[in-house]
Amino acid sequence: MRKNRNSFTGSIGFVLAAAGSAVGLGNIWRFPYLAARDGGGLFLVIYLILAVTFGFTLLLTEVAIGRNTKQSPLTAYGKLRPKWKGLGVIACIIPMMIMPYYCVIGGWVVKYFLAFLTGSGVQTATEGYFTDFITDTSTPIGMMIVFLFLTMVVVLGGVDKGIEKFSRIVMPLLVFLIIIISAFSLTISHTDDSGVVRTGMEGLKILFIPSAESLNFQSIYTTTMDAMGQLFYSLSVAMGIMIAYGSYMKDESNLPKSVGQIEIFDTAIAFLAGVMIIPAVYAFMGKEGMQSSGPGLMFVSLPKVFEAMGPIGNLIGCLFFAMVLFAATTSAVSILEAIVSSFIDKFHMERKQATLAEGLIALVLGIVVCLGYNKFYFEIKLPNGAVAQILDIMDYVSNNLLMPIVAVGTCILVGWILKPKYVEDEITKNGEKFARKGVYNVMIKYVAPIMLVVLFLKALGIV
Ligand code: PHE
Repeated sequence: MRKNRNSFTGSIGFVLAAAGSAVGLGNIWRFPYLAARDGGGLFLVIYLILAVTFGFTLLLTEVAIGRNTKQSPLTAYGKLRPKWKGLGVIACIIPMMIMPYYCVIGGWVVKYFLAFLTGSGVQTATEGYFTDFITDTSTPIGMMIVFLFLTMVVVLGGVDKGIEKFSRIVMPLLVFLIIIISAFSLTISHTDDSGVVRTGMEGLKILFIPSAESLNFQSIYTTTMDAMGQLFYSLSVAMGIMIAYGSYMKDESNLPKSVGQIEIFDTAIAFLAGVMIIPAVYAFMGKEGMQSSGPGLMFVSLPKVFEAMGPIGNLIGCLFFAMVLFAATTSAVSILEAIVSSFIDKFHMERKQATLAEGLIALVLGIVVCLGYNKFYFEIKLPNGAVAQILDIMDYVSNNLLMPIVAVGTCILVGWILKPKYVEDEITKNGEKFARKGVYNVMIKYVAPIMLVVLFLKALGIV
């Protein structure tokens, strides 16, 4: 083992970096939409319950594996049980698949941020702007390169002087920006062309008050599945990241406490994103405006909302895209680090070499993803019904197929082969208490694997 393994300077550095990974596009463009669609309060309550049980279990397990083995995802599983090496390989392939398209989307954010920064944000609200932009053969590639370069610079700086330092600056800024925009969003009152007045405060009710229709068995089931899928993605588990970050954690730090803090951070930002987006979209576009999520929400609907705000819209849009850029870079940094740490541990590369190698792979694949909207354009239907291009296929395979496999595998390895005691020992080795041990044991052995299998079957369109 390498003697000079990098590490975070302390718990706060670790928590901020891991929260930086967890807080990403999913918190901003999917959580608010799901919450509004699934009957407001009901989704939030189910999400919270799952976060402290299911989410806590998965996150704690990965961080514990990382801290205990002091290995990257690629090598950690094999160190625990040589026969399980293959799981490590999948856990390393996932971030390698995500990195290129995450950078492409990061490039879209850079483009919109620059548009608002230079005062021409209104343009982004014109019909067809987004489609014209992504189908262009050169600009998206250029923007992706800017984003990838930024990410590589941070990772090249190392764990403490690169990732931790960056997270310590960017995460507080992100919180600050999201609070400002949310507060603004709540003060909005807008009269539409037919004279109907809608306020941000009314929009807030849609987010928090459970709708009567949502309280039946069928919708509780759908909501639970949605909340679970969202939580799984949002915590950045099952893609090796938390193992890599855990391996840089100091042995003295309190594991369950840090994991709890990451969850609180991630969930609070998701809630705030809801408070920021739903009231504004509702006030300016009504309930129909809330039908979109993902790129459609961020790059098509929201620019229209900023335009409708009048002169202040450009400033709000600029702050918004700066905030999204922070969220996306800290996530991309964590994806890259999971791969870089794997290359370092497995192939004994230097950090610089490993970063450049993965940077090159991401660049080539990223270009292919960009060209998927023009030169390589095709349409294919995924098992879950969505019409997809290259980006969506990579997203589907990594998130919906490979990630549940890694997560179920991890639950079986820790719950049944190593036994939950493995995680307990890692947690209590400094004399710390493991308060949620009972919940953890039941979760890791039974509930989490079953839930993950259902999630997997759902992605295949089977249930
Ligand atoms: N967890 C991030 C989010 O909620 C997304 C992410 C995906 C981060 C993949 C890292 C890797 O948006």
